[in-house]
Amino acid sequence: MNASNLSPNNARGGIGLLGVGIVGSAVASSILSAEGQRRGLRLCGAIVRDTTRQRDVELPAGTLSSDPDTVLGSPDVDIVVELMGGEEPAMEYISVALCAGKHVVTANKEVISKHGEKLRNLATANNVSLQYEASVGGGIPIINPLLNDLAANQILGLRAIINGTTNYILTQMASGGVSFDDALADAQRLGFAEADPTADVDAFDAVYKISILARLAFGVDVPIENIFREGIRRTASQDFRYAEELGYTIKLLAAARRENGGLLVRVHPALVPSDVPMAKVEGALNVVEAEGDLVGPLWLQGRGAGAEPTASAVMGDVLRTLSVLRGGGHLPQARPINPDLPLLEMARHECKYYTRLTVRDRPGVLAQIAGALGDMDISIASVLQMDSDPDRGNADLVIMTHPAREANMQRAVERIDALGDVGTVANVIRVESYPSAR
Ligand code: HSE
Repeated sequence: MNASNLSPNNARGGIGLLGVGIVGSAVASSILSAEGQRRGLRLCGAIVRDTTRQRDVELPAGTLSSDPDTVLGSPDVDIVVELMGGEEPAMEYISVALCAGKHVVTANKEVISKHGEKLRNLATANNVSLQYEASVGGGIPIINPLLNDLAANQILGLRAIINGTTNYILTQMASGGVSFDDALADAQRLGFAEADPTADVDAFDAVYKISILARLAFGVDVPIENIFREGIRRTASQDFRYAEELGYTIKLLAAARRENGGLLVRVHPALVPSDVPMAKVEGALNVVEAEGDLVGPLWLQGRGAGAEPTASAVMGDVLRTLSVLRGGGHLPQARPINPDLPLLEMARHECKYYTRLTVRDRPGVLAQIAGALGDMDISIASVLQMDSDPDRGNADLVIMTHPAREANMQRAVERIDALGDVGTVANVIRVESYPSAR
């Protein structure tokens, strides 16, 4: 930001909204509230696709339009707040706003995850700010703490539940006998899950979010294709029952950690010991666990989605921009790129594995499965024969391994699957390691 963009004379508090959906309505309400007015905020324009649609907020006459130029080209607008979601045209509008010398606040995780570096550079080149606190963890402050309060730390690791929809689904399934399909339908009925739940249940949403956090925490630009991603569709109700018998629950975890001289970023369902705090983060709540070399472990928990929590983060960014705009100074920049921290492949990850197999219930089966694991240098910690179906001659077998390399485990799974009617691997879930837990 340069002095001209920050001078008090120029600080009029004019805001242009791109998108007035559920979150946009809550943000507009906050701008129009007595508190917003007291702080000198003015809603100058709001862009929507359909101006005739009923909304949760009554906007001042003349503010609503379907023409983006009424915000992007307006000299009255100092801060553009983008809440449309999706990659395009949001990316284009944010770029146009920055090039026009407007400060931008966005909640758009897809745009920041895919184009953050380009947009940050565009903001710097145009002496304006780009803020995106609401893009990760809804109302949880995590972006600004990483940029500000934790800037002096070397961050060692992040581990998070950053998708509320899947955490709601998994919590329902953990509560007893609820299938994935029923839990998903329930989440859709309550408005957590979209009609097309792909972004959430196949973990794209969590991948966008952990890539944003990893960039800020480690100074590493992590292309989403380089993040190991596995969603929750394979997780069945019996996995919860068996996991519980073994002392675990199942969570969709997003993690980024320094290990073996590099950075490994991964998103997948994981067995989490029932007695660690993360196991008790239920429903649509989110949590981010961070570990810094100076600060030690941190725990940030809160509502990761929804109109008001997201508006809380967006308005925090708006007010922060405004106070810098009025008082002069700079907002902090992201850490410079760290060229000495290469991205690691998931194949090198090491953990214990929970494996659920459906096998023929007859002599010699276990020996063949143990052989396939042993050939790949994987040591078995325990074997439990769970439900059996005498009519079909099948049984569920749960094998817990000692820590093993991901690459070896994948090869062993292929071999067991190839054993045909001897054994079929129904699910493999990584066991998350916690220093003080089992
Ligand atoms: N769909 C997201 C979630 C909320 O379920 O957490 C928006 O980021």
